[in-house]
Amino acid sequence: MNRHNAKLNSYAVRQLELTPSDRVLEVGFGGGVSLPSLIASAAFVGGVDRSSDMVRRAKAIFSEAVSAGRADFREGSVEELPFEASSFERVCTVNTIYFWSSLDAGFAEIRRVLSPGGRVVVGFVPKERMDFMRMPADIFTSRAPEDVVAALRKAGFSDVRVERPEPTTPWNVIVATR
Ligand SMILES: C[S@@+](CC[C@H](N)C(=O)[O-])C[C@H]1O[C@@H](n2cnc3c(N)ncnc32)[C@H](O)[C@@H]1O
Repeated sequence: MNRHNAKLNSYAVRQLELTPSDRVLEVGFGGGVSLPSLIASAAFVGGVDRSSDMVRRAKAIFSEAVSAGRADFREGSVEELPFEASSFERVCTVNTIYFWSSLDAGFAEIRRVLSPGGRVVVGFVPKERMDFMRMPADIFTSRAPEDVVAALRKAGFSDVRVERPEPTTPWNVIVATR
C-alpha cells in the first residue's frame, strides 16, 4: 500500500480542484503527505486525525501556517468532526475508510461540515485488492467502491463518480458533491 500512497494522495488532491479561496479539510491526514500541497493551494486547511501523535506532529511541522491562521489541526474522529457546519468547500480523506466505524456516520459528518455545492474526495484501495493483499481483517475493513458510492448517495451527496488514472490502477478515488 505504501508504494502507491504518494500517487494516490496527489491524484486525490488534484480531484479536489482547489481554488485559492477554498477552505479544505483533510480527515485522517496521518503523516501529512498531502498537507504541503493543500496548504500551498487553499486559503485555509483544517485537519482532523484520531491520533494525538499525528496532530502534534502536524502542528510542529506546519507551525508557520498554523501561526498565520491558515491551518488548524485537531484531534478527533470522522464520526464526530470537531468543526462547525458548512466550514469547508472541500473535504478529502485518503486511506482512512478502512478504519471508520461507520461509512454512514462518517459521510453524514463530512456533509455537515461542507458548504452547499462543496466537494468530497475519498481515496482508497478497493476491497478486491485489499483482500488479495490479505490485510488483517481485525484492523482493516475493506470497502468495495459500490458500497462507498451507495453510502455517499444515502448521505445525500450527488454526482458521485469513481475515478482512477488508468483502468489497471490498483486504487481509486470517489468524488461527490454536497
Ligand atoms: C493509513 S493512515 C493514512 C494517512 C494519510 N491520509 C495518507 O494517505 O498517507 C490513516 C490515518 O487515518 C487516521 N484515522 C483512522 N480512522 C480515523 C477516524 N475514524 N477519524 C479520524 N482519523 C482516523 C489514523 O489515525 C491515521 O493517521
